[in-house]
Amino acid sequence: MTRDRRIRFNGFKCSTVAHTTAGLWRHPNSQSHRYKELSFWIELAQTLERGKFDSLFVADALGVLDVYRGSPEQTLREGLQTPTDDPLLAVSAMAAATKHLGFGITVASLYELPYLFARKMTTLDHLTDGRIGWNIVTSALDSAARNLGREDQIAHDERYAMTDAFMEVVYKLWEGSWQDDAVVHDRASGIYADPAKVHAIGHKGRYYSVPGIFLFQLPSPWWRHHRRKRIRPLRNRAKPLVRPAPASSSARTATSLPISMSSMAALATFSAI
Ligand SMILES: Cc1cc2nc3c(=O)[nH]c(=O)nc-3n(C[C@H](O)[C@H](O)[C@H](O)COP(=O)(O)O)c2cc1C
Repeated sequence: MTRDRRIRFNGFKCSTVAHTTAGLWRHPNSQSHRYKELSFWIELAQTLERGKFDSLFVADALGVLDVYRGSPEQTLREGLQTPTDDPLLAVSAMAAATKHLGFGITVASLYELPYLFARKMTTLDHLTDGRIGWNIVTSALDSAARNLGREDQIAHDERYAMTDAFMEVVYKLWEGSWQDDAVVHDRASGIYADPAKVHAIGHKGRYYSVPGIFLFQLPSPWWRHHRRKRIRPLRNRAKPLVRPAPASSSARTATSLPISMSSMAALATFSAI
């Protein structure tokens, strides 16, 4: 087996004024205050692509940093990770302005619904022509939990159990619902999709219940190009996260998406894009 000895370069950003670069926004040349402008993201993506980067990774958090002195005062004063916007929304524009750059975006599993989230990612898979990746985080901030309908942060192991359950549903939607040849798009007969080839996933679990079919059509570009690659283990665990499609479905077998359970793994995973 020949080893791929190419170096992969990844840009790292958070959609905020200051993340790992505290105070740098004060530099006269700093552009980080423009994180809310589409032109900022387009220029960033084009600069990375021109510089031969493989991907742009965008971190995210759903709560304010408020532990220091028990308030968000210092965080706000210094623009530390707050204010921050939704990093998924600039991806289509960046994809339209580049050809090869991959986009790894952080999304917290605890505050999404797998049925909706799977559609969002598949939409971006289509719109970016297979250049979207997902950094799966559970969200570790108490301030996020409090503002998203919980009294406190869910305990660590429970967060990961919920995320396993989340992953089970999204994989079922991606792997077990639409067969590759389900879309017919036959103008003459007037048939767009063959209902016999679109399967309800019939999922009922402790956290999520999704009886129906995946709402969007598959395969999307990433699936088409990479389905033979196997997913790498997300964490050191005995049980693999990827499960084969339900036996009743003749849809595709288990494959991989450019996703990971930790940001570090996400960076490595982008070599698949
Ligand atoms: C390089 C790196 C980047 C991370 N980026 C994010 C992020 O963008 N958003 C987030 O909520 N957590 C982020 N995390 C935190 C992880 O999701 C996780 O909470 C952390 O590694 C602690 O692991 P644990 O959840 O098992 O305690 C990052 C972790 C690492 C190592």
